[in-house]
Amino acid sequence: MDSVTDDFIIPQDWSSYSAVDHATWDRLFARQQAMLPGRVVPAFLKGLDVLRLSKPGIPDFAELSDRLMHATGWQVVAVPGLVPDDVFYEHLANRRFVAGRTIRRPDQLDYLEEPDVFHDVFGHVPLLTDPVFADYMQAYGEGGRRAASLGAIDKLARLYWYTVEFGLIRDGDATRIFGAGIVSSRSESVFALDDPSPNRIAFDLKRVMRTRYRIDDYQQTYFVIDSFDDLLRQTLDADFGPIYAELDAAEDLDVDRILPGDRLLTRGTQRHARARTARQ
Ligand SMILES: [Fe+2]
Repeated sequence: MDSVTDDFIIPQDWSSYSAVDHATWDRLFARQQAMLPGRVVPAFLKGLDVLRLSKPGIPDFAELSDRLMHATGWQVVAVPGLVPDDVFYEHLANRRFVAGRTIRRPDQLDYLEEPDVFHDVFGHVPLLTDPVFADYMQAYGEGGRRAASLGAIDKLARLYWYTVEFGLIRDGDATRIFGAGIVSSRSESVFALDDPSPNRIAFDLKRVMRTRYRIDDYQQTYFVIDSFDDLLRQTLDADFGPIYAELDAAEDLDVDRILPGDRLLTRGTQRHARARTARQ
C-alpha cells in the first residue's frame, strides 16, 4: 500500500497492470469507440486523437499528462479512489484531474461500484484538451472552494453531476453527449440520447442546482447546454453567493419534475424509471 499524502496523490504504478487489466481497457475502449461517433460532441473525439488514446492498453498517466499539458496545461494524477471534496477542488483549481488507477474486473464490464480508470480517464480526460471545457473545470474547482466556505457543496455538486458527468450539448440541430458518466457507459450512451423515458431540458444554472439526482440508475432528466462557451460564461458570470442563499429558501426539485419555466426539449415518458419501481 502506498502512503497517502495530504494531496492524496499516489504513483500510478503503470508496470503493475496485468495483461488482463490492459485487455479489459481495450475491450471497453473498442466498444465505446465504435458507438460514439455521431453521438458524442466532436471535441471528445478530437481529444482521443490529441491524446493518442487509441494506443492499446491502460494509458500511462505520465505520458498522458505530457500531451495534456501541451494542449491545455492540465495533468492527470492517480488517487486511491474518491477523495475529500476540498482535496478534489484544490486539484481542479490547479488544473490537475484526479483519476483512479484500478480497472474493473473483466466479468463486470458494465458494473461499477465506484469510478475506475476507464471511467476517469476515457470518460473525463479527452474533453480536457478542449480549451474552453478545460477552463470550465478549473473554474469549477475554484467555485468549489467558495461553495465549501458557504456550506453549499451539495448545490454545486449538482452542477458537476448534470454537466461534467451527465451533460448533453447542442450541436447544430442535433443533441450530443459529453458527460463522462454517459460517454464511458455503453448502455447510457444510447439511453441518454435515444430513449423516450428521460426528460431533456435546456440548461439553466439555478434550475440545475435545485435538482436532485440519482446515483443508482440512468438519469430521469438530462440538461442540455448550448455550448461549452455558454456553460463557462454562465458559470463565470454568476454570483454564486446570492444564488446559494436564494436556493436555500427554495424547495429542492425531484429528479423527474418539470417546471412551467423550463425550456423542455423532450418530455420524457419516465417508462424506464416506472418499470424499475414496479420491479422493486
Ligand atoms: Fe466521473
